[in-house]
Amino acid sequence: MSSYDVIVIGAGPGGYVSAIRCAQLGMKVAVVEGRETLGGTCLNVGCIPSKALLHATHMLHEAEHNFADMGLKGKAPSVDWKQMLTYKETVVGQNTGGIEFLFKKNKIDWIKGWATIPAAGKVQVGDDTYDAKNIIIASGSEASVLPGIEVDEQTVVTSTGALTLNKIPKSLVVIGAGVIGLELGSVYARLGAEVTVIEYLDAITPGMDGEIARQFQKMLTKQGLKFTLGAAVQGVTVKNNKATVTYQLRKDNSEHSITADTVLVATGRKPYTAGLGLDALGVALTDRGQIKTDAKYATNVPGIYAIGDTIAGPMLAHKAEDEGMAVAEGIAGQKPHVNYGVIPGVIYTHPEVSNVGETEETLKAAGRAYKVGKFPFMGNARAKANFAGDGFVKLLVDAQTDRILGAHIIGPMAGDLIHEICVAMEFGAAAEDIARTCHAHPTYSEAVREAALACGDGAIHV
Ligand code: NAI
Repeated sequence: MSSYDVIVIGAGPGGYVSAIRCAQLGMKVAVVEGRETLGGTCLNVGCIPSKALLHATHMLHEAEHNFADMGLKGKAPSVDWKQMLTYKETVVGQNTGGIEFLFKKNKIDWIKGWATIPAAGKVQVGDDTYDAKNIIIASGSEASVLPGIEVDEQTVVTSTGALTLNKIPKSLVVIGAGVIGLELGSVYARLGAEVTVIEYLDAITPGMDGEIARQFQKMLTKQGLKFTLGAAVQGVTVKNNKATVTYQLRKDNSEHSITADTVLVATGRKPYTAGLGLDALGVALTDRGQIKTDAKYATNVPGIYAIGDTIAGPMLAHKAEDEGMAVAEGIAGQKPHVNYGVIPGVIYTHPEVSNVGETEETLKAAGRAYKVGKFPFMGNARAKANFAGDGFVKLLVDAQTDRILGAHIIGPMAGDLIHEICVAMEFGAAAEDIARTCHAHPTYSEAVREAALACGDGAIHV
């Protein structure tokens, strides 16, 4: 049987990036993947297909709401749902095919099937066993469904089923006001569904800067999403292709229910490690089922590493990619480093929401003196021209040194704008460094600079 320097288990963003980096560093690499196509959750049933649907439905929204004002007359387009799903599948296919091409280019073997690790240094797929000096577990995560809820991926769906509904529901209940719930809730609201989001906590998007979360909720409400906060979902029953969600309001324990065509369960994800044989191997897990690793992503079993959604930290494709590169570089004897203080988060609704670093809440909890510099997109010429004046940029900087500690953006292209701040933070920059950097006019980026100016003597366009 073949033997490899590295066998990676899972071809999602963590696994495939890791495999490519290993190959670039001269290692003989194979990736085990049981799906029909490479790319994992992100490319097949996550980031990429949801972005295609977000893009298509945003175009519809523009046509319905802004075209006439720009002098673009005519009826807004009607939705051909089947074609929209075909477009989404085409986008997925282009991306998964791209990974296959990269594997060939880097001479990475794709072992098709589901892996188990019978012993350190061995990977079994079906009847075949392969030798591997190093094994990297990058098997990702799966939806974490509340007890009392049975997912059929037709009426009661996770994000996977929500990307392939056979028709647009008239009503959709989303359980969980996190990233998945709000992105997919937006898609269906734009397509005309009545969307109600039920959230356990008293605010949407837990962990997000509070001011941004409140503003975000207002904007989504204006777009037609309804929110029931402080509500613990108890269960879901399905009758005649309709689902009824029962929930209890935390403030008074009163029981309520709501019925809809479709229910999306978006209450988080958990590591997907079933079938790997971790128990028998004695791989140590946390009490949340995450694989325990050291700073080099090594588990307690020599030669076995783990990255991405299977270990601690935010479940984000780009975090997994960074770890994928780092683990490869560590195996090659380099000294890689992932800066967990500078991992951006983005919600791809409209407007987009992005963040990096500290929030006002975390700074207050740490008792750190900070300044806030804010700038509204209403003061940005480009945003006004593009009907994108809602939202603002908010920088949090150290009160004494002016060093940037965090940034929060709600507005146009927020997911791209955040990276200027990420680079600045990696260099330990102060707000003044951004403020003194010439930014092209007219761009959305000027709003970032203005927020930096607001940390000093003041923004210009307010
Ligand atoms: P999440 O952790 O973002 O949000 C889950 C929400 O469900 C929380 O607000 C939680 O309070 C709520 N919840 C839990 N139990 C509940 C109950 N019984 N009743 C009502 N609400 C309840 O999880 P989500 O949205 O499922 O996403 C999973 C993972 O995928 C996240 O780690 C997320 O970061 C990642 N993801 C990232 C995306 C991006 O970066 N754009 C897009 C989609 C997913």
